[in-house]
Amino acid sequence: MLNLQLIEMQDVTDQVRLLEFQNFSGNALPAYSAGAHIDFELDVIGARAYSLIDWALEEKHPRTYQIAVQREDDGAGGSKAMHRLEIGSILQASHPKNDFELIKDRSEVLLLAGGIGVTPLISMATQLAFEERAFRFHYSARTEKRMAFKDRLDAVFAPQMSFHFDDKIPLDLTDLMQNQPAGSAIYICGPKAMIEAARTAAEAAGHSSQNIHVELFSTPQDSSEDTPFEVEIHSTGEVFTIPIGQSIIDVLSTEGKDILYDCQRGDCGICQTDVISGVPDHRDVVLSEADRQAGKVMQICVSRAKSARLVLDL
Ligand code: FES
Repeated sequence: MLNLQLIEMQDVTDQVRLLEFQNFSGNALPAYSAGAHIDFELDVIGARAYSLIDWALEEKHPRTYQIAVQREDDGAGGSKAMHRLEIGSILQASHPKNDFELIKDRSEVLLLAGGIGVTPLISMATQLAFEERAFRFHYSARTEKRMAFKDRLDAVFAPQMSFHFDDKIPLDLTDLMQNQPAGSAIYICGPKAMIEAARTAAEAAGHSSQNIHVELFSTPQDSSEDTPFEVEIHSTGEVFTIPIGQSIIDVLSTEGKDILYDCQRGDCGICQTDVISGVPDHRDVVLSEADRQAGKVMQICVSRAKSARLVLDL
């Protein structure tokens, strides 16, 4: 773990605060690649992931990490805890991890950000500009006032940037995806509804699901319609009940099962599990529409069941 000390903070919109941390030990920090995040350990709430922002290709061992936190007044408390930090506060954090890495080839790239989902894509744009790769960067927010980093993005990436505002010039995803060259690598980060709409538009325009990479900025999910269900472990025959408010991973981990997972938001794909029988209720943003319909795999960190029982290949 790292001990990170807050050394700078700046409000970039009414709700978004830029935070800069240094290593409390005084040493340089571990290097990271575009799209990486770190998990901060917050009291009571647990780990919260924030993407690292790099505007100028950090040196191999950066002196500081920058993140941006949007205050979610209806959230579980993580963003409010981050906004309560004061200069000098020290937090434990993981080393950088990257589930949203730029693929190293020369294909054209489309970056598509919704709201605070812009943060990992800033680092990607920095990397792509450095490598002189062709890319377009579309950034959408509800209003111009709520758009973080607009002026700076315009100054640094003007030829590649397009800004969209729901209340003025909304983004036309169908048009965007139809005009994006075939074979492009598409990176999408934002809220779930936007990711799903963008993925659907991209697949309808003929883009391969292999070329669509997503990371979710989660907002609190409505669990009022959820019901408990059972999960049977195929290898042992054990059956566990998954109650409302807990995920399959929550329950299986508590029962001592060794489950591989990371993001717990349904966007990294690491917890993907084969479904032997039963009907999954997909809540992730990883699977293509075809995979959802087939129902043969599911992300057990967020997805639930439409049937009373799922038998999983565990
Ligand atoms: S842990 Fe990332 S999709 Fe489940």
